[in-house]
Amino acid sequence: MAKKKQPLTYTLPDEFQAFDFAQDLVAWYDSQKRDLPWRINKDPYRIWVSEIMLQQTRVETVKPYYHNFMDKFPTVQALADAPEDEVLKAWEGLGYYSRARNLQAAAREVKEQYGGIVPDTPEEIAKLKGVGPYTAGAILSIAYNKPEPAVDGNVMRVFSRLLLMEDDIAKPATRIKLEHLVRQTIPVGRAGDFNQAIMELGALVCLPKNPQCLTCPVFDYCLARKEGVQEELPVKGKAKPPRPVQLVAAVVRKGSELLIRKRPEQGLLANLWEFPIFEVKGQGDETAVLLESLEQEHGIEVEVLDQLTLVQHTFSHLHWEVSVYLCDYLGGEDTSTRGRFVTQEQLAEFAFPNVQTKIMEALKQKEAEATLL
Ligand code: ADE
Repeated sequence: MAKKKQPLTYTLPDEFQAFDFAQDLVAWYDSQKRDLPWRINKDPYRIWVSEIMLQQTRVETVKPYYHNFMDKFPTVQALADAPEDEVLKAWEGLGYYSRARNLQAAAREVKEQYGGIVPDTPEEIAKLKGVGPYTAGAILSIAYNKPEPAVDGNVMRVFSRLLLMEDDIAKPATRIKLEHLVRQTIPVGRAGDFNQAIMELGALVCLPKNPQCLTCPVFDYCLARKEGVQEELPVKGKAKPPRPVQLVAAVVRKGSELLIRKRPEQGLLANLWEFPIFEVKGQGDETAVLLESLEQEHGIEVEVLDQLTLVQHTFSHLHWEVSVYLCDYLGGEDTSTRGRFVTQEQLAEFAFPNVQTKIMEALKQKEAEATLL
């Protein structure tokens, strides 16, 4: 007979005083919480945007982007109706651009399927593009005060310590376990404040290194602290190191214009703009790869001049090492539909990823040096 799946039942340690802990934590949050721009009201759209921006990105980095994004796209409808290029431009520099593309795709779903109102059930909200369990829980609890957990890496750190849990937080099963345990700790009627209080504790007190236990509002409840092992937690298995990839990029000059192109609709940095960039496989010769690729992909001939710079960028799974060359356009019509020549002033109208912005900076520096000579 097939083995029946057991329902998951995780219970809080007997010695953890969940009720008193939650009361004290929320009281601390009420008096100490930071004034953050997504806390001025409970508009689910504003909270949604903030939670997407805050994934992998620090609060201080997010703030100016958030203000600008809200000015440009104040409602679900405004975001749904905007050209994608404008949304990517507003995201330029924040990284993880699929967040922006998914957010807009989901705003279009909300507009079309829910009349522009962000849904308030776990089933509906989880179906939206880019909304995983953490974001779903954050929106449902903060905007709608539904008793749902919102467990991200910071919350896992805080709870691993509070409950003296040695499970590896890099494993998906640990997140699920913690979601069950956090759910049991949420105080009645205060889900949004409780989840934000845990985030606030992780950001201000229960830091990854040097947790500030002596000023912690829930010092008395922390089981790791009682054993003096708070700095050894959480346990986190090592991720695979990013795979190195060698690339070569070309800044092609045609009079006062430069060749840029839009990246493909799918994959890494989808639909962002770039100076043409190509992977160098094996022991490939960089100049030969440039000449051949520009001919094949753009139908143009160039002269490869000096090496302009070397830039590096680490993505989640890849480490790019890019050797950048200045080139002069010699001839041929650009046959691709994604390339175009633009002036340096016009570059500001397009959304470029950071690795490309570094190339622009090297170019500007080179030009500044040349005028000094
Ligand atoms: N990090 C993720 N979500 C947050 C929030 N709502 N407030 C502060 N920091 C956060």
